[in-house]
Amino acid sequence: MQSDSAAHPDVVGVRAPRQDDAQSSQHEEVTAQLRAAGCVFAEDEADILRETAGDDTERLAQLVRARAGGAPLEPLVGWVEFAGRRLSVGPGVFVPRQRTLRLLDLALGELRRPPGSRARTFVEAFAGVAPLAAFVSSELPGTRVLACEPDPAALRHAAANLAGRGATLPSDVLSGLPAAHRGHVDVIAAVPPYVTDDDMTLLPREARDHEPPSALSGGPDGLHWFRALIDEASDWIQPGGLLLIELSDQQLAAAAHDGDGRGWRQEPMEQDDESRTTVLALRAKARSSENQPS
Ligand SMILES: C[S@@+](CC[C@H](N)C(=O)[O-])C[C@H]1O[C@@H](n2cnc3c(N)ncnc32)[C@H](O)[C@@H]1O
Repeated sequence: MQSDSAAHPDVVGVRAPRQDDAQSSQHEEVTAQLRAAGCVFAEDEADILRETAGDDTERLAQLVRARAGGAPLEPLVGWVEFAGRRLSVGPGVFVPRQRTLRLLDLALGELRRPPGSRARTFVEAFAGVAPLAAFVSSELPGTRVLACEPDPAALRHAAANLAGRGATLPSDVLSGLPAAHRGHVDVIAAVPPYVTDDDMTLLPREARDHEPPSALSGGPDGLHWFRALIDEASDWIQPGGLLLIELSDQQLAAAAHDGDGRGWRQEPMEQDDESRTTVLALRAKARSSENQPS
């Protein structure tokens, strides 16, 4: 026998043929399509794609087709979560990785050290969409924040992420920094392109096919851009300032050796055994004229 509620779906308290049912069957359908295409986090991604499409079912179908066809999720939906915030990203730019949170922590720790009365200056080199600069600018509002990056598409996202709280500077390495900052920067942090030539073919497909090689490739030993940075950074960092660079752990010894030969002192740093990446921390030595007794 049918219950009253089934017979009269509009009666208060009755389970009408509802939006919720349509939503949940849409969720299941999208999840099934993503799962069939091999997406590991199909349920979560279904939520994200549905949120992005809103009520536009045609748009949802397009997004699901693109994702099932192998397009990476973040550029498709226009954001990535980093340190609890949504950052703007898009097609053709490097998507910030969660492993870079360690670099962010180290930069924040250094910038939070008592500065005296001076405002501090932070530079994100090789900034891409500027994940570090964006976080520092909102977390430490008194800090001067500058993001250096040559790619116009990445710079547009960086400007959106900084939301007026810092400057985006078109730059080859650090070339765009205003001269007034020479010798006054407290912390420079960078994720330079550091994949070796041999490893470029071993990258996951989402990186290989959808991120620009110029954001990834660091030359035969992966340290080409690292070396360019340590050379240029000496002019901008203040004595005692800190240069923090994410690299692969296999590059650490060679990179530390190069830093030492170019006037930097390696800071001891706990290594993260679970990740295959590391952060090299190089402290700027006092300049030789500053070592002379007066
Ligand atoms: C590995 S991505 C890191 C981006 C960002 N820091 C992050 O963690 O998401 C490296 C970035 O360096 C930029 N880049 C490539 N060549 C450069 C150069 N000659 N000078 C400055 N930046 C460069 C790329 O465009 C890319 O955005």
